[in-house]
Amino acid sequence: MYKKYKPYPLVHLTHRKWPSNIITKAPVWASTDLRDGNQALVEPMDAAQKLVYFQILVSLGFKEIEIAYPSASQTDFDFCRKLITEGHIPDDVRISVLTPAIERHIRRSFEALKGAQNIIMHLYNPTADNQRQIVFKKSKKEIIALALEGTRIIKEEAAHFVGEVMFEYSPESFSQTELAFARDVVNGVISQWNPSEETPMVINLPNTLEACTPNIYADRIEWMSAQMVMRDRVILSVHPHNDRGTAVASAEMALLAGAQRVEGTLLGNGERAGNADLVTLAFNLYSQGIDPMLDVRAIDTALETITQLTRLPIPKRHPYVGEKIYTAYSGTHQDAIKKGLEYQEVALDGYWHVPYLAIDPRDIGRDYHDVVRINSQSGKGGVAYVLKRYYAIDIPKAMQAKVAARVQRLSEAKGGEIAPEEVFEAFKQVCLA
Ligand code: KIV
Ligand code: ZN
Repeated sequence: MYKKYKPYPLVHLTHRKWPSNIITKAPVWASTDLRDGNQALVEPMDAAQKLVYFQILVSLGFKEIEIAYPSASQTDFDFCRKLITEGHIPDDVRISVLTPAIERHIRRSFEALKGAQNIIMHLYNPTADNQRQIVFKKSKKEIIALALEGTRIIKEEAAHFVGEVMFEYSPESFSQTELAFARDVVNGVISQWNPSEETPMVINLPNTLEACTPNIYADRIEWMSAQMVMRDRVILSVHPHNDRGTAVASAEMALLAGAQRVEGTLLGNGERAGNADLVTLAFNLYSQGIDPMLDVRAIDTALETITQLTRLPIPKRHPYVGEKIYTAYSGTHQDAIKKGLEYQEVALDGYWHVPYLAIDPRDIGRDYHDVVRINSQSGKGGVAYVLKRYYAIDIPKAMQAKVAARVQRLSEAKGGEIAPEEVFEAFKQVCLA
């Protein structure tokens, strides 16, 4: 059965540069939660829910937010009107809408955005071989003509739009498009739009169906970046999907390869296996000492509302924000965390030193209580930690093993977690009896 699938083609780069690069700053973040994310929900959000979501995105610091696909849905159209007419868009936030390269859709999309100060008109058309031949039955020439005609109409509309218009073009299904053809379409569109230095355009290269390892996506981005015309007037954007479970890695490697902007969603919601998870990406930067340019301090509160709106719960072990992500059960980890936190109190160098904790849980408003929880795999370090943190008891070393042994027997008999009060009981029985 597996033989019906073809291996992904390699990019023949002889002097690829991206493996030696490092990420030193946050990319431009572009949220697609309210379009790509919303269209994948079992129950799409209504206008009121989308507004709450939009306001959370703004509070987190997103400056580019794709709010809708207004020409395809009246609800989306109405949502655009609501945001604009009720004045919900801060001056420094650009709203974006997606449109196919079809005249009536483009004109309707501009209608939806009338009155907005700053917009991104995001044009897409599929370019992959299977889309061209099977879905659209169009030649390469016809696909290019479609993209150019879409660009021309947008240019015409933009000329009398009252707000500032930024243009974004996506060769949709770039991931399955022959690179040389993707280059030809993209360069045709750039030349037609003719961006300036003051108002660059966005070229977004989506990993629409993630089918390659992140290093190959990076190769494709590096290749495209080198082949693009007017490169200094183009913001190179990526839009990784997560079909292989590696969207975050693809985004990061793409940044190494020259991408300047990343599209994705909070927690990676989106079609199939989702979009790139911008929360994880932001914390990956944060934990390297890089300002993520998103305000992550109250992320738990923000995500509590987000999960109610999407009805998609956060897995307990989701990177950085899962409920259990700063909790250790195993004895060796607990011992190291306990020692690390003690060291942290006296280390005055300003750096984070605690083993097994990628970031300080306090940075996102959590405390240290839960970093150690007790079950049958826990050891004396963990038990000593709980007694100290919950009861301010510094248990002597000699007693630690005895109390831990009792706690372990209790946990084995009970078959689960042992609460701090039960640890305290065991301590009393062993040490005070
Ligand atoms: O995944 C995709 O290719 C898209 C495009 C419309 C950017 O969502
Ligand atoms: Zn997408």
